[in-house]
Amino acid sequence: MAATTPTTPAIAPLKGTKLFAPLKLGLCELQHRIVQAPCTRMRGVKESDGVNVPGDLMVQYYGQRATRGGLQIVEAADIARYTSGYPGVCGVFAASQVAGWKRVADAVHARGGFAFLQIWHAGRASPPSFRAGAAPPSAGGRPMDGAWPDGSACAECPPTPMARDEIAATVRAFAEAAARAVDAGFDGVELHGANGYLLDQFLHDNINDRTDEYGGSVENRCRFPLEVVKAVCDAIGPEKAGVRLSPWNYFQSTMDSDRLGTWSYLCEQLVALPASQRPVYVHMIEPRFDEVLDEQQKIDSLAGGDKKVAVSLSPFREILQKGGILFVSAGCFDRDNSVSKLESGATDLVAYGRWFIANPDLPKKLADGIPFTKYDRSTFYFTEPPEKGYADYPIYAAEVA
Ligand SMILES: Cc1cc2nc3c(=O)[nH]c(=O)nc-3n(C[C@H](O)[C@H](O)[C@H](O)COP(=O)(O)O)c2cc1C
Repeated sequence: MAATTPTTPAIAPLKGTKLFAPLKLGLCELQHRIVQAPCTRMRGVKESDGVNVPGDLMVQYYGQRATRGGLQIVEAADIARYTSGYPGVCGVFAASQVAGWKRVADAVHARGGFAFLQIWHAGRASPPSFRAGAAPPSAGGRPMDGAWPDGSACAECPPTPMARDEIAATVRAFAEAAARAVDAGFDGVELHGANGYLLDQFLHDNINDRTDEYGGSVENRCRFPLEVVKAVCDAIGPEKAGVRLSPWNYFQSTMDSDRLGTWSYLCEQLVALPASQRPVYVHMIEPRFDEVLDEQQKIDSLAGGDKKVAVSLSPFREILQKGGILFVSAGCFDRDNSVSKLESGATDLVAYGRWFIANPDLPKKLADGIPFTKYDRSTFYFTEPPEKGYADYPIYAAEVA
């Protein structure tokens, strides 16, 4: 009997599938449905305390990942000084930062791509050591479980419930940050309303224990995030505004007691906004994705916690679709599950986080059936030197032919 040589199984090229079907998103004529998910990599250059600026490395990194007609959601940028939860995160509040982001947006545009900047306020996820010693603001006074990234226990410095005038000032700060992002050349902004940061803190009833018009009922808990959406749309136009939400996430002690009800209401309110204030897309994270649990553990846990609830993004997608709001789905997409997701109509676009970190040429690899480079978790966040695991992943071929 002749000896057989083991062969690597062929990988199906996905060129010609719905992953590569064009789509108009606001003013952007997208040529494929592969979105770079926002991933904060903490490579900003420190200018002064609380002020980090995008430098050459970030320009190179985002330029590497640009494709003709591709959409990149650039990592979270602080709307104001001391609103961040981590070191090395760039803001979009200082002139030097706007200048740095302009170079990032230019690098993406030079290759025919589109870029939205995610903008955030971390709320209680921000330790006092990153805020010149001040306690972080939040919807209420309850700290997160565990410790902040600087190692200090969250319970040692509980958040300060935001006063009404502070809420109003923060709405304005989001709108002003969005305007600066557009001035820097971004095609739009994505409001970070996910993953347990400030806007999400107002939504969850285990965090928001306010008794005024911003707490209590679902209507009240959605009020501040909706005010931010409206103010940002007024500032830059609805076709340039997206929103990220994570109804099923546990990250940073987010444990709403009625996830389906809360986020369905929020989606209905987004759809009910006048066209001039209705965001062009909503970006949601799949329930299977979790920062701590693996996929099966997460699904089992949600099924046990929210009995009789279909654990899926579909109810939200259906509400948004009726209102003409595009949908981006993220979380554990690879080369096997994205086409079926698009073809089923469950989403309009698919976002890739970790695979895009390690594969600057991800759209090309998906198109041609080229194996992915594995990502190295140890270099996700700040590394020394910062180049390591950042802009040095191999590139098979830059452009989708
Ligand atoms: C290093 C890293 C940084 C991240 N930073 C952000 C962020 O700034 N904003 C955000 O909304 N999500 C952030 N995420 C979550 C991703 O956008 C994405 O939802 C998650 O990685 C799941 O997608 P994936 O399975 O394709 O990686 C981050 C994830 C990673 C791994």
